[in-house]
Amino acid sequence: MYRATPTIVGLDVGTTKVCTLVARVLPEGWDIISFANVPSQGVQRATIVDIEEATAAIINSVERAEQSSGMDIRSVWVGITGHHIRAFPVEAGLKITDEEKQITQVHVDALIQMAQRSLSIPEDHSILDTIPRQFTINGVSGIKRPIGLSAREVKIQALVVTAATSFIQSLTRCVRQAGLEVEGIVLEPLAAGMATLSESEKELGTALIDIGGGTTDVAVFLENALVDTFALPIGGNHVTRDLAIGLRTPIEEAERLKVNYGCALPEKVGSDETVEVTELGRGKQRPIPRKALAEIIEPRMRELFEIASERLERKGWLPLLAGGVVLTGGGSLLEEVSELAQSVFGLPVRIGEPLLPIGAPQELKNPIYATMIGLVLHGIKHYRAVTEVIQPWWRRWENILRRLKRLLPW
Ligand SMILES: Nc1ncnc2c1ncn2[C@@H]1O[C@H](COP(=O)(O)OP(=O)(O)OP(=O)(O)O)[C@@H](O)[C@H]1O
Ligand SMILES: [Mg+2]
Repeated sequence: MYRATPTIVGLDVGTTKVCTLVARVLPEGWDIISFANVPSQGVQRATIVDIEEATAAIINSVERAEQSSGMDIRSVWVGITGHHIRAFPVEAGLKITDEEKQITQVHVDALIQMAQRSLSIPEDHSILDTIPRQFTINGVSGIKRPIGLSAREVKIQALVVTAATSFIQSLTRCVRQAGLEVEGIVLEPLAAGMATLSESEKELGTALIDIGGGTTDVAVFLENALVDTFALPIGGNHVTRDLAIGLRTPIEEAERLKVNYGCALPEKVGSDETVEVTELGRGKQRPIPRKALAEIIEPRMRELFEIASERLERKGWLPLLAGGVVLTGGGSLLEEVSELAQSVFGLPVRIGEPLLPIGAPQELKNPIYATMIGLVLHGIKHYRAVTEVIQPWWRRWENILRRLKRLLPW
């Protein structure tokens, strides 16, 4: 239903944090109403392992966002990721027999359904999304918006993304138990890409790598479409664990050391720099060279980038990444991480800060929030598409009123 100021809520249920972002859709753009970030519980490697704990964390995050916005949150756009995500390139074609031979939404929907049916979906998996890559009309490829064009035959090339049905069910159950409706489930690296990549990066070919606490998600964008995605079961928490074991220190202390003094390249740390470490069990402090931290961190981060790079090479994407690599997620905050990634991928690497509307809190300009902001952007895109289809006259009326307002002196 049309509302004067529709709101969109994004919910990022991560391994380490649960974030809620409440945004308002404006006629031209959007703005942020409130935001909450609380520690996660019941989630391991981006997978819900305890429904009650995860539900409690969602309630905590959403209630905080409600308190600071003074509004009731009823439904959310929620993110999904994990090792279970699969992506399949598919194709389908049909002849247009209608008299006018003009492509309509009905044809596009039929093509998408045919493409989905051409795939034998893995057991216990469900389709999450089908993303058109390009259409070919009468043999001419590279067409992005086929509706309205004349054609005898049209083909679609698309990417079908599936997720483990049990994981979708657990996520949905947690959100519903928290008293919320699921407006939509969005692939997290797709969301992170929407929030951070420029149009030309998506066009030229760019790999978005989100280094979270429990997983690292990779999404490949080319010719303005998502063309592949996969997740690796390694994240920032593995680095913390390596430090805890290597330095014989508690996990919390290893996390503090990583965040405050960690570095991905030992050669960038001065030999005279030292940090205090709390010893496991005895609780005593002892000084260690800061370089020792980097020497533990580097191999794990290098391994992560090497696995990602090998997968991208095997699938043939690496030579097509003219836009390079963009890093998001908490792991991208590690000192010198983009330099390390650059040396492994042999491509330009940058850190992806999300693009925010004017006046947004500056603390959100942080790659750790890329997924959450992308969830809201996805919700806004969906809202605009639906309202345009259902009530085009409303939009026309709004545009006329806006133009009149500009003309009139009051
Ligand atoms: N300044 C920092 N330097 C290095 N690592 C950091 C820094 N800040 C946060 N991290 C790490 O980032 C990770 C959390 O990132 P993020 O918030 O993106 O994960 P998440 O969304 O909760 O997890 P996932 O996406 O895997 O479900 C943690 O391992 C944390 O230690
Ligand atoms: Mg995440």
